[in-house]
Amino acid sequence: MDRVSRRKLMKMVAVAGSGAALTTLVKNEQVNAEEIARMTTEEQAATVIPAARAFGGQHSPKPLPFDPTKLKGISEKLIKSHWENNYSGAVKALNAVEQRLAAMLGEKDLPPYIYGDVKREELVRTGSVVLHEYYFANLGGDGKASGKALDFIKQWFGSYEQWEAEFKKTANALGGGSGWTILSYNLHTGELHNYWAWDHMHNAPMGYPLLVLDMYEHAYHMDYGAAAAKYVDAFMQNVNWDEVNRRAEEMRVRK
Ligand SMILES: [Fe+2]
Repeated sequence: MDRVSRRKLMKMVAVAGSGAALTTLVKNEQVNAEEIARMTTEEQAATVIPAARAFGGQHSPKPLPFDPTKLKGISEKLIKSHWENNYSGAVKALNAVEQRLAAMLGEKDLPPYIYGDVKREELVRTGSVVLHEYYFANLGGDGKASGKALDFIKQWFGSYEQWEAEFKKTANALGGGSGWTILSYNLHTGELHNYWAWDHMHNAPMGYPLLVLDMYEHAYHMDYGAAAAKYVDAFMQNVNWDEVNRRAEEMRVRK
């Protein structure tokens, strides 16, 4: 392989943005991977395009923002299991998916439907990671609504009680299955709604989450069995309204 074609290869490989892809392609083309390391900094800069950050696969789990022994009606064992197995598992899976996507960029003759499968997984895992982080962050409080979020709820639902009844109704509609209930401000319509989400990919476009409730069975089955409504009641007692208010302050309300 001449110098020019080798440079082309390295550019192609580096665009893929993955160490795994780099190694594979270099081996396939029988080019010594260590050659890149031996290049001068200037030569590397001229030939190697930096790895794509979009496929970095470097996410790491955020620690629980509250003491799991202090929740009312939700056990430490359940929260730890949820955080370690479901949430952290989703973070690991997202990293693996991103790295796989990077590697696939360099694969010739890859069937589009195979790439589509992994792109779907990217959406699933991203939804799971983001929603779990919102969920854990809005737990650990006293469950007493206040502040801007409460004012906003009253504007759109008439009263806290009416909002809570509809939030619980939406959550209970997901009992025994999977999904999320999300109090969202829609940045497009300018409206506040309790959105129903059957899975990690269900989100109203432009919905800005203020309060997120995990309705997957793994979020309550250990403590409540199939009695999802009891878990929903317990969740409401532990909402961290300071965090909900922080989110309400952070978003831009459409005039
Ligand atoms: Fe979960």
